[in-house]
Parts: sequence; C-alpha cells; structure tokens
Amino acid sequence: MTEPDYTDPAVLTNLAGDWTIPLGGYATLQWDYDRVNEKMLRLYVQGKQRQWDADGVLDWEREPDPANPTGIPDQFVSIAGSALWDRLPPEERALARRHAAGWLYSQFLHSEQFALVGVGRVCAAASDLESKMFAATQLMDEARHVEAFNRYIKTKIMLRYPYAPALRSLLEQVISEARWDFGVLAGHVMVENMALVTHAQHRERMGDPLARALSAYVARDEARHVAFGRLLLRQYYPQLTQRELREREAFVLEGCWALKSRYVDDDVWITLGFGEQAIAAARRSPVSREFRRRLFMRLVPGLKEVGLFGPRIQEGLAKLGVLGFGDFDEESLRKLDEHAVDKLAAADIAGRREDIAATAELGAGQVADAPSAMPR
Ligand SMILES: [Fe+2]
Ligand SMILES: [Fe+2]
Repeated sequence: MTEPDYTDPAVLTNLAGDWTIPLGGYATLQWDYDRVNEKMLRLYVQGKQRQWDADGVLDWEREPDPANPTGIPDQFVSIAGSALWDRLPPEERALARRHAAGWLYSQFLHSEQFALVGVGRVCAAASDLESKMFAATQLMDEARHVEAFNRYIKTKIMLRYPYAPALRSLLEQVISEARWDFGVLAGHVMVENMALVTHAQHRERMGDPLARALSAYVARDEARHVAFGRLLLRQYYPQLTQRELREREAFVLEGCWALKSRYVDDDVWITLGFGEQAIAAARRSPVSREFRRRLFMRLVPGLKEVGLFGPRIQEGLAKLGVLGFGDFDEESLRKLDEHAVDKLAAADIAGRREDIAATAELGAGQVADAPSAMPR
C-alpha cells in the first residue's frame, strides 16, 4: 500500500482539514403547550420506542473473513469487471475488496456524524414541539449509528478513509446555510434516501451477517428519518413563494449532479497505487454507473412528495436519467425497511436454536464417544 496511510487518525484529520463550520440559522421556542401536531407526535412515539443498542442486538463476537471482512460482493467493487480487475492476482483482489468496504463504510460514518450535527440544528429551528421532540430521537439514533459504524470500521474492516468531496461539500454548505429547510432537503430527502437504497442492498447482499444486520437496523431508523423530513417539508413548503421553491429546486439539482457524477471512490485506487487506469475503469464501469443511478430510486419520489417537482427539476432529472423513478411505488419498500429487522430477529433466534441443538448433539456425541480418561 502506498502513502498516505488512511488508517492513521492523524492522517485523516489532516486530510479532512478544518471541520469547524460556522452555523447558520436561528432557534425557535413554542410556548403554546396545548397545540399538538398529531402526525409528528405519532412519529415521535415510534422514534422513542424503536431505539436499539448495538451492544445488545448485534453479534460482535463473530470473526469476519480477513480477506473480505464485510463479505462485499464483487459487483460492489467499482473496478470489478474491468480488464484491470481480471488481471489482478487473488491477493490484490482481496485488498481491493477490503479497501472498497473501508471507503464505503467511512462514507457512512462521516455522513452519520454530519446527520448528528445537522439534526441538532433542525431541533432548534423546527417551529412545533413535536418536531423538536422527534428530532431529539433522531439525534440519539444518529449517535448510535456513529457508534456502530465506528466500531464496525475499527474492529472488522480496520481501515478508514476521508469523506468523499461530493458529499462533504453538500453537507458543509447546508450546515452554514441560514435557511433550515436546506439541511432537511440535503440530509433527509437526498442523503438519507440514498442511504436507504444502499442499506436495503447491503442487508440482502453482504456476505458478513454482522454487516447485514447493521444495515437492517440502520435502514429502519433512516426510513423514520426520511418520513420526518417529508412531513416537515410538506408542512412548510406550501408557505413559500414560487420563487423560493424554485431556489430549492435549483439547490437540489446541483446536489444531484454532484452526487451522480462525483460520488466516486478515487481515493481507494490512489491509496492502493492502482493509478489512473483504475480510476478510469471505476468511472466507466457500467455496474458503478447503474449503482449511482439507482441511488436516486427513492430520492426522486421524495422530491415529488414534498412538492419540488416543477418543470425545471423534471428536465434536470431527465438529463440525469433518473426521472422515471418519480413513478416508483415506494410503499412496498417502506414495509420492507420496517419488517427486515423483525425477520432478522426471527432468523437469528432460529439460527441460535439450531446452534444450540447442534452443540447439544455434539456434546452428547462427545460424552458417548469419549475415552474414559478420568480416573474413577
Ligand atoms: Fe443515521
Ligand atoms: Fe438518519
């Protein structure tokens, strides 16, 4: 591996630069304690009841495959399928899989930290008490996500990468933006909808059971956060003028272009010393391009639902090749996000029962077959 060493926290800090960002915006307080936002209250109750603890619900004991700790399928490695990939010896493919996972999980980790900070601002700015209370449950969710991804990276992948510039610049911009809803657009409507698509894929496709379970738990929370963003903006946007709404659409389009064209893992190939050839292969790869396109599968219906779906944004989304997702039926996916954790828990219980039965059988066999070594 060539320098810099991204496993070294000092290197990461240097690369990240100054992470102190000026805060924009204002705080509101609601003195009318009798006014209740019923829909938001229901979401808050869900947020309060569905907290989980990564220490308790995830099995951290199982040792991952050192050659492929997350069990990432080759299709998720951006250079897979290229002539370069075909020439790589098995040990270098293993290294590429680990680094691809390290890069991806680092993006999750940094995004979770941004969400933690960003939702604090939403809590301060939201006009009603129930929205503030829900934001508080999300704040705790994001803290738990930071904890879990950090632990997963530290103990299983053991490799950390800096934040992808496309995501970093989008989120930096909204933290210092005075208009609070820009943060909800970037965080809840854009990034969390993209995270939902990724985690839904991971909970089905990752080879490592811990990676699958982590994605299932995180996705259930993110689905709730997306619902919160949708509710907030559907309440707020009817109060805005057409000109103000067009400003939001322009911001979203710019962000979509950046994410579609610049959310790339160049850092991996630079770190591994695979050079320009790998970067070009990753960018050309039909699988990676399709992956980046599918990231918009839930984002586009999300824009439609909050009322940001005027002619200009539709034209922009069409140019990006993602407008068709506007007709996507999201309801069935929402149900999956909700129930994947229950299925996982049931499978886990069934798996443990099998384990216990197998161990008991083994124990019985050992007793029957064991030579009588102990003196009587
Ligand atoms: Fe999160
Ligand atoms: Fe979230």
